[in-house]
Amino acid sequence: MIELQPSEQGLDDYPFLVAQLQALLAGERDFIANAAQFSAFLFQQIGDLNWAGFYLVRGEELVLGPFQGNVACVRIPFGRGVCGVAAASGNTQRVDDVHAFAGHIACDSASNSELVVPLFKGERLFAVLDLDSPSLARFSAADQAGIERLAEVFVELTDC
Ligand code: SME
Repeated sequence: MIELQPSEQGLDDYPFLVAQLQALLAGERDFIANAAQFSAFLFQQIGDLNWAGFYLVRGEELVLGPFQGNVACVRIPFGRGVCGVAAASGNTQRVDDVHAFAGHIACDSASNSELVVPLFKGERLFAVLDLDSPSLARFSAADQAGIERLAEVFVELTDC
Protein backbone atom coordinates (compact mmCIF):
# COMPACT_ATOMS: atom_id res chain seq x y z
CA MET A 1 0.00 0.00 0.00
CA ILE A 2 1.18 3.51 -0.84
CA GLU A 3 1.09 5.98 2.01
CA LEU A 4 1.09 9.65 1.12
CA GLN A 5 2.82 11.81 3.70
CA PRO A 6 1.55 15.32 4.43
CA SER A 7 3.95 18.13 3.56
CA GLU A 8 5.92 19.66 6.43
CA GLN A 9 5.16 23.07 4.90
CA GLY A 10 1.40 22.59 5.54
CA LEU A 11 -1.42 22.20 3.06
CA ASP A 12 -1.14 22.88 -0.64
CA ASP A 13 2.65 22.84 -0.88
CA TYR A 14 2.68 22.46 -4.68
CA PRO A 15 6.39 21.69 -5.26
CA PHE A 16 6.02 18.87 -2.71
CA LEU A 17 2.78 17.68 -4.36
CA VAL A 18 4.46 17.67 -7.80
CA ALA A 19 7.27 15.45 -6.48
CA GLN A 20 4.75 13.13 -4.81
CA LEU A 21 2.64 12.87 -7.97
CA GLN A 22 5.71 12.09 -10.10
CA ALA A 23 6.61 9.26 -7.70
CA LEU A 24 3.01 8.00 -7.61
CA LEU A 25 2.61 7.79 -11.40
CA ALA A 26 6.14 6.54 -12.18
CA GLY A 27 6.14 3.20 -14.00
CA GLU A 28 2.50 3.30 -15.17
CA ARG A 29 1.09 5.09 -18.24
CA ASP A 30 -2.42 3.59 -18.47
CA PHE A 31 -5.01 6.37 -18.76
CA ILE A 32 -7.74 4.91 -16.53
CA ALA A 33 -5.30 3.81 -13.83
CA ASN A 34 -3.50 7.16 -13.73
CA ALA A 35 -6.67 9.28 -13.98
CA ALA A 36 -8.27 7.34 -11.12
CA GLN A 37 -5.09 7.61 -9.06
CA PHE A 38 -4.69 11.35 -9.79
CA SER A 39 -8.32 12.04 -8.72
CA ALA A 40 -7.77 10.20 -5.44
CA PHE A 41 -4.43 11.98 -4.95
CA LEU A 42 -6.01 15.42 -5.38
CA PHE A 43 -8.91 14.54 -3.09
CA GLN A 44 -6.57 13.26 -0.37
CA GLN A 45 -3.83 15.86 -0.60
CA ILE A 46 -5.58 19.14 -1.43
CA GLY A 47 -7.55 20.64 1.44
CA ASP A 48 -11.22 21.60 1.51
CA LEU A 49 -12.54 19.77 -1.58
CA ASN A 50 -15.82 17.91 -2.01
CA TRP A 51 -15.18 16.66 -5.56
CA ALA A 52 -12.12 16.05 -7.77
CA GLY A 53 -12.09 14.33 -11.12
CA PHE A 54 -12.31 14.23 -14.88
CA TYR A 55 -14.81 14.90 -17.63
CA LEU A 56 -13.67 13.36 -20.91
CA VAL A 57 -14.24 14.85 -24.38
CA ARG A 58 -16.64 12.69 -26.41
CA GLY A 59 -17.59 14.52 -29.63
CA GLU A 60 -19.21 17.84 -28.66
CA GLU A 61 -19.89 16.71 -25.11
CA LEU A 62 -18.06 15.97 -21.89
CA VAL A 63 -18.71 12.61 -20.27
CA LEU A 64 -17.96 11.77 -16.63
CA GLY A 65 -14.60 10.07 -16.06
CA PRO A 66 -12.69 8.87 -12.99
CA PHE A 67 -13.43 10.98 -9.90
CA GLN A 68 -13.69 11.13 -6.11
CA GLY A 69 -16.73 12.61 -4.39
CA ASN A 70 -20.48 12.30 -4.66
CA VAL A 71 -22.21 10.89 -7.72
CA ALA A 72 -22.26 13.56 -10.44
CA CYS A 73 -23.85 14.69 -13.72
CA VAL A 74 -22.78 12.34 -16.51
CA ARG A 75 -22.96 14.44 -19.71
CA ILE A 76 -22.19 18.15 -20.10
CA PRO A 77 -22.46 19.85 -23.52
CA PHE A 78 -19.56 22.12 -24.56
CA GLY A 79 -20.31 25.68 -23.45
CA ARG A 80 -22.58 24.67 -20.54
CA GLY A 81 -21.63 25.06 -16.90
CA VAL A 82 -18.13 25.74 -15.65
CA CYS A 83 -16.75 22.53 -17.17
CA GLY A 84 -18.40 23.15 -20.55
CA VAL A 85 -17.06 26.73 -20.69
CA ALA A 86 -13.53 25.49 -19.84
CA ALA A 87 -13.80 22.93 -22.65
CA ALA A 88 -15.26 25.36 -25.22
CA SER A 89 -12.79 28.17 -24.44
CA GLY A 90 -9.70 26.08 -23.73
CA ASN A 91 -9.03 28.29 -20.69
CA THR A 92 -8.94 27.45 -17.00
CA GLN A 93 -12.08 28.62 -15.19
CA ARG A 94 -11.58 29.73 -11.57
CA VAL A 95 -14.95 30.56 -10.07
CA ASP A 96 -15.19 32.05 -6.56
CA ASP A 97 -18.97 31.61 -6.31
CA VAL A 98 -20.53 29.03 -8.60
CA HIS A 99 -24.04 30.31 -7.79
CA ALA A 100 -23.11 33.59 -9.52
CA PHE A 101 -21.82 31.78 -12.66
CA ALA A 102 -24.42 31.83 -15.44
CA GLY A 103 -25.29 28.27 -16.43
CA HIS A 104 -23.50 26.59 -13.55
CA ILE A 105 -24.58 22.94 -13.28
CA ALA A 106 -25.24 22.12 -9.64
CA CYS A 107 -24.35 18.45 -9.28
CA ASP A 108 -23.71 18.72 -5.57
CA SER A 109 -25.39 21.48 -3.56
CA ALA A 110 -22.35 21.48 -1.24
CA SER A 111 -20.15 23.05 -3.96
CA ASN A 112 -19.55 26.80 -3.69
CA SER A 113 -16.36 27.40 -5.66
CA GLU A 114 -14.77 25.54 -8.54
CA LEU A 115 -11.58 25.26 -10.59
CA VAL A 116 -11.68 23.61 -14.02
CA VAL A 117 -8.48 23.05 -16.02
CA PRO A 118 -8.73 21.99 -19.69
CA LEU A 119 -6.29 19.20 -20.55
CA PHE A 120 -4.52 19.10 -23.92
CA LYS A 121 -2.28 16.51 -25.55
CA GLY A 122 -0.46 18.79 -28.00
CA GLU A 123 -3.28 20.74 -29.67
CA ARG A 124 -5.99 18.21 -28.86
CA LEU A 125 -8.36 18.85 -25.94
CA PHE A 126 -9.14 15.46 -24.44
CA ALA A 127 -10.60 16.22 -20.97
CA VAL A 128 -11.13 18.76 -18.23
CA LEU A 129 -10.01 18.37 -14.64
CA ASP A 130 -12.67 19.63 -12.20
CA LEU A 131 -12.13 20.50 -8.53
CA ASP A 132 -15.05 21.63 -6.34
CA SER A 133 -14.97 23.10 -2.84
CA PRO A 134 -17.66 23.70 -0.23
CA SER A 135 -15.94 27.05 0.60
CA LEU A 136 -16.46 30.25 -1.37
CA ALA A 137 -13.30 31.49 -3.17
CA ARG A 138 -11.35 28.36 -2.19
CA PHE A 139 -8.95 28.60 -5.14
CA SER A 140 -6.38 31.41 -5.30
CA ALA A 141 -4.24 32.30 -8.32
CA ALA A 142 -1.44 30.30 -6.63
CA ASP A 143 -3.75 27.26 -6.35
CA GLN A 144 -4.63 27.63 -10.02
CA ALA A 145 -0.93 27.69 -11.01
CA GLY A 146 -0.15 24.74 -8.73
CA ILE A 147 -3.04 22.60 -9.97
CA GLU A 148 -2.25 23.47 -13.61
CA ARG A 149 1.32 22.25 -12.95
CA LEU A 150 0.01 18.99 -11.40
CA ALA A 151 -2.23 18.52 -14.44
CA GLU A 152 0.81 19.00 -16.71
CA VAL A 153 2.71 16.30 -14.81
CA PHE A 154 -0.27 13.95 -15.18
CA VAL A 155 -0.44 14.56 -18.96
CA GLU A 156 3.34 14.06 -19.37
CA LEU A 157 3.31 10.76 -17.46
CA THR A 158 0.12 9.28 -18.97
CA ASP A 159 -0.99 7.91 -22.34
CA CYS A 160 -3.83 10.35 -23.06
N1 SME B 1 -20.45 22.16 -11.53
C1 SME B 1 -19.93 21.66 -12.77
C2 SME B 1 -20.50 20.31 -13.12
C3 SME B 1 -19.67 19.20 -12.68
S1 SME B 1 -19.76 18.87 -11.05
O1 SME B 1 -19.38 20.00 -10.25
C4 SME B 1 -18.92 17.53 -10.60
C5 SME B 1 -20.17 22.64 -13.90
O2 SME B 1 -20.89 23.63 -13.75
O3 SME B 1 -19.61 22.41 -14.96
